[in-house]
Amino acid sequence: MDQIVARDLHKSYYNGGKRLHVIRGIDFAVKKGAAVFIVGPSGAGKSTLLHLLAGLDRPDSGGVDFDGTDIYKLSDRKRSELRNRKIGFVFQFYHLLQEFSALENVMLPGLIRRDRDVAGLKKRARDTLGRVGLSSKCDNRPSELSGGEQQRVAIARALINSPEVLFCDEPTGNLDSENGRMIYELIFDLVKKNGITVIVVTHHEGFADRHAQILGIKDGILTKIMV
Ligand SMILES: Nc1ncnc2c1ncn2[C@@H]1O[C@H](COP(=O)(O)OP(=O)(O)O)[C@@H](O)[C@H]1O
Ligand SMILES: [Mg+2]
Repeated sequence: MDQIVARDLHKSYYNGGKRLHVIRGIDFAVKKGAAVFIVGPSGAGKSTLLHLLAGLDRPDSGGVDFDGTDIYKLSDRKRSELRNRKIGFVFQFYHLLQEFSALENVMLPGLIRRDRDVAGLKKRARDTLGRVGLSSKCDNRPSELSGGEQQRVAIARALINSPEVLFCDEPTGNLDSENGRMIYELIFDLVKKNGITVIVVTHHEGFADRHAQILGIKDGILTKIMV
């Protein structure tokens, strides 16, 4: 069964009375455990689409099904709960909280969940930071970490609640090619070893893994890209 289905999604922004029709009828489906890359130029609507798919925004029309449930028909509380438990999101600019350590940043989505004991959560956060190669940086604040390290903390934070789907918005956009390659290796490893579904949007294709499905986005619609 398809895990995520987008049905005729439309989204416009209005600025000073002018309409910008950003997402213009997107249909697509993603199977559990798939890795999908959506590639397109800046301004193509990549972030808007990813936010719609991850339940972070609301389409003007159309719908997004997660395991057969239309997430925008859920109450805000139920949709937040679904996001917290089943969805991880990695942002281009990391969005780490500067006044907290790497470990505390990773623990946060687990604390929001409130059904886990804090000692167990702390151990799990340490283990997850270990998985992304940052065992020795648990107590450092984001300002004491490189860009690549901060993005790895953000990935650990996205994984702490064992999500079924990981969304990544230009996860290597601010990294050099060596760090970018490491981040993609980590992401593909997650797909292969844990069966996590991964959807990445990016403006370049320098990553392409032969297992990934690649789509293009242009003028608010999806196109096929041949590789
Ligand atoms: N909140 C907003 N209000 C008005 N316009 C927006 C908003 N967010 C994005 N846009 C515009 O929508 C278009 C698509 O943006 P975005 O989805 O961020 O593209 P991408 O991630 O591909 O660069 C751009 O022209 C952008 O300026
Ligand atoms: Mg963007």
